[in-house]
Amino acid sequence: MKHQVAAAALQHIPDDIVLGVGTGSTVNALIRLMCEQGKRLAGCVSSSEATSALLRDGGYEVMDLNSSGELALYVDGADECDPNRCLIKGGGAALTREKIIAAASRRFVCIIDASKQVEVLGAFPLPVEVIPMARSHVARQLLKLGGEPMWRENVITDNGNQVIDVGRLEIHDPLAMEDSINGIAGVVTVGLFARRPADQVLVATADGVVTL
Ligand code: 5RP
Repeated sequence: MKHQVAAAALQHIPDDIVLGVGTGSTVNALIRLMCEQGKRLAGCVSSSEATSALLRDGGYEVMDLNSSGELALYVDGADECDPNRCLIKGGGAALTREKIIAAASRRFVCIIDASKQVEVLGAFPLPVEVIPMARSHVARQLLKLGGEPMWRENVITDNGNQVIDVGRLEIHDPLAMEDSINGIAGVVTVGLFARRPADQVLVATADGVVTL
């Protein structure tokens, strides 16, 4: 299914653009296809060191977002997607760079399989990247919001920070939840993509790829 939706995403990528590239196994399938098919790009802006390594191995130039300017297109996966194309992301701990690239892109195409579709976000524990010294403080504030914070031990993000995964949330108002978690001192980013949802979601189903 990941291969199927990656192949569909490839059709959305014009030649010779600077492409924003996300992180995760679905995006890895896309990178593999790009390499196999000799996809021509002017360069890529990558959301993680892991993705950058794969892109460089495939012969693509990885550019700095500070010199690329606004991006025409960003392609990335997600952990959950609601009917309004709001997302939970960060299962791969790349949420901060992913959110920056999504914000800097005119178009964000998200690629998932049907198991990621939900009516209400929150069954997947919500990742929150935190400054290490603030971890316990942030966890206490997340408890007050009704969540069950769990420290993702042994994970350090590409930015040198830590990750808390918040379970037991039913996110009926993703915009408000994104704003309130982002407002906690010590939070770098919450993996809720509601202020900047996907513009288009390609969903791999047993009957083929469906577009939201
Ligand atoms: C990484 C992410 C990924 O997009 C998300 O975890 C989905 O990954 P996969 O394609 O492996 O299911 O947000 O931080």
